[in-house]
Amino acid sequence: MMKLIITGGAGFIGSHVVRRFVTKYPEYEIINLDCLTYAGNLANLKDIQGASNYRFVKGDITNGSFINDLFREELPDGVIHLAAESHVDRSITDPTAFVMTNVIGTVNLLNAAREFWKGDYAKKRFYHVSTDEVYGALGETGMFTEVTAYDPHSPYSASKASSDHFVRAYHDTYGIDVVISNCSNNYGSHHFPEKLIPLAINNIKNNKPVPVYGKGENVRDWLWVEDHARAIDVIFHEAKTGETYNIGGHNEWKNIDLIHLLCSIMDQKLGREPGSSAKLITYVTDRAGHDLRYAIDSTKLQQNLGWTPSLQFEEGLAKTVEWYLENEEWLNNVTSGNYKSYYETQYTDR
Ligand code: NAD
Ligand code: DAU
Repeated sequence: MMKLIITGGAGFIGSHVVRRFVTKYPEYEIINLDCLTYAGNLANLKDIQGASNYRFVKGDITNGSFINDLFREELPDGVIHLAAESHVDRSITDPTAFVMTNVIGTVNLLNAAREFWKGDYAKKRFYHVSTDEVYGALGETGMFTEVTAYDPHSPYSASKASSDHFVRAYHDTYGIDVVISNCSNNYGSHHFPEKLIPLAINNIKNNKPVPVYGKGENVRDWLWVEDHARAIDVIFHEAKTGETYNIGGHNEWKNIDLIHLLCSIMDQKLGREPGSSAKLITYVTDRAGHDLRYAIDSTKLQQNLGWTPSLQFEEGLAKTVEWYLENEEWLNNVTSGNYKSYYETQYTDR
């Protein structure tokens, strides 16, 4: 029996991680701790909400006394920490929210681990889920490895870098068992449509302009979200204490090439004339401080723990499009309400 708190379990990646742990480990007790921001959605977990080894707890990680009470009551054996403000564009508009959740929220969880796991550190594990953006931007060549120096550029990546440093500091200073992973861009189902792929799918579906920042030449390394969840499972169970693992798809795409591929998949799935969705591509003002290229070297994870990505991008992207077209209600629900005003603020003046 193992009791785990998974933070941010109602979000995009968190919901895939919760689903994997709840279904694969019926003997574990899984507590999904999430405060349900605009990005948190319990509909992401509809299929497992009645599972006997699953519980949802609504709570905010920025509230230190709430986190302490939760640890005192539950005495978890481990934490898998995904809760975060995760969108770079929002961090440019409002950096403070990112400091609060990503830095202070992480420190609150670490403080609770330090206090309530005292005397038992070797038997407990704090897994911090982080991003490749902490390493900064690459030029046309090279890849991020686990020893690449941190060089974050956006308020989002600066806050994630800071949280990574705190996690390592609590390991080095207090001896808490921690592991960290830094992953590249994820894609797949339940992805909030403020991020490039789901936003483009939604806009193409509705015949709206598809905004491409700058010249569309920035490169991202895309990974199927279920492959990320599988990597988290392996790292949580098998990594040595204090270790860091990079996770990536070996799958680099220039934004504009990715959007063209997506347009052709959408033409096919929607029965449109080939080339018609691509007419929606609209170049807009670039993101401030836009990192040129990310690419992950995941050799350590592949060699030490035997993980490899499972899905080819073309296949994964087609599956993702199908999911969004089949889940219109989910898409309509998350794009009603505040989404419209967010979209207008982000995109009207670009
Ligand atoms: P997301 O924005 O979809 O979900 C974040 C979740 O955290 C939401 O459910 C939200 O309600 C919850 N949350 C936010 N603030 C909270 C708070 N104060 N207290 C409790 N819950 C709170 O994010 P995501 O894309 O699923 O990312 C999950 C994690 O993975 C993040 O830590 C992110 O930095 C990291 N990551 C994301 C990617 C990616 O491509 N999306 C890649 C690498 C790493
Ligand atoms: O690399 C991992 C990171 O990937 C995660 O840590 C972040 O949480 C996640 O949001 C993602 O960050 P990006 O900034 O790379 O993702 P986003 O989908 O916002 O943008 C992908 C690329 O597409 C980026 O170069 C910016 C560009 N873009 C984005 C949007 C939303 C556009 O051209 N147009 C858009 O409308």
